[in-house]
Amino acid sequence: MVDQDNDSPEMRGPGRFTRLQEWWYSEFRRIVGAWVFVVVLLVMGAFFVAVVDFTDYVFSHNTFCGNVCHVMESTVYEELQESSHWQTETGVRPTCADCHVDGRLTYAMMDHFVGTGELFTWLTNDFSKPGSFEKFRPESANRERFKFIDNDSKGCRSCHVMEAIKPSGVRGQREHEEAREKGVTCIVCHYNLVHKEVEPSEEFRNTIDAILAAGEEEEGAPAGGDDLLAPDFSEESGGDSVL
Ligand code: HEC
Ligand code: HEC
Ligand code: HEC
Repeated sequence: MVDQDNDSPEMRGPGRFTRLQEWWYSEFRRIVGAWVFVVVLLVMGAFFVAVVDFTDYVFSHNTFCGNVCHVMESTVYEELQESSHWQTETGVRPTCADCHVDGRLTYAMMDHFVGTGELFTWLTNDFSKPGSFEKFRPESANRERFKFIDNDSKGCRSCHVMEAIKPSGVRGQREHEEAREKGVTCIVCHYNLVHKEVEPSEEFRNTIDAILAAGEEEEGAPAGGDDLLAPDFSEESGGDSVL
């Protein structure tokens, strides 16, 4: 020990070692520091996702949508419970969110955010009397219907697969075949599904009429296309016969 302290040439060895050690320590700290940083970010991220998920869970639950908000309890919730979507043969029972809130978390949060608008309606109006919701129903139903048009009835499709539906009646089979061909969305035909009947607004009626009419034009187009394809096809088969 004492020798080492006195002998300068011998210092080089340990000196190099010390430098290496110091370099390693600083590298180690840097690497560990970077990892600590990454881990902290990940933990924060996971926490954030958990909070968002919990928020969505609470605000998508029937308890919130149907009970906490008493206006809904005695109106749309009660109506849902009387609808064919409540007592299903297989026991599959949609929640409010299945139909009204997007299945993907990011979009669901946007739906919840937009939904806070209802809170202001509730704060600025008196809903204590029975029937006081009815004043708001037509506009509310109209808004929902347009939402289903805009998102291609995404909520319905979270359960129903268009291709898999086998309507029992002839009319249903015919209309579904048409709907599939023209790409018409559920709400165009299936409004007044689970809540009290609401007359479609003129705006909604015009929109669905236009969708069905546009579908008919489109239906004409492929038919025309088929006509155009037909000679092509025969030419091809003609070519085949020549060969
Ligand atoms: C099976 C799908 C479905 C479920 C489940 C559902 N809704 Fe609806 N809801 C609709 C559709 C479709 C409309 C658009 C109006 C219409 O055509 O009936 C609507 C409209 C509404 C409206 C507008 C007012 C009205 O009467 O149209 C409110 C409010 C509403 N729903 C709230 C709820 C709440 C709260 C729940 C849960 C207790 C719920 N909905 C469950 C499909 C559903
Ligand atoms: C949680 C899943 C779920 C969602 C979401 C859902 N449905 Fe259904 N739907 C069912 C079940 C289950 C039945 C009962 C019949 C069956 O078991 O196939 C049914 C029945 C129906 C019927 C036949 C009975 C009736 O009421 O006329 C129609 C039409 C229908 N659904 C349309 C829709 C439309 C339109 C939407 C979107 C607004 C929708 N459904 C959303 C599960 C769902
Ligand atoms: C062009 C109109 C049209 C469109 C679009 C349409 N349907 Fe229908 N659907 C009908 C008609 C009509 C019936 C038969 C109703 C009846 O017989 O009471 C029917 C029947 C049904 C049934 C009940 C099957 C049975 O007979 O038991 C279900 C479920 C259903 N539709 C779901 C949907 C869903 C979900 C969508 C969207 C993915 C959709 N429909 C789109 C017109 C349509």
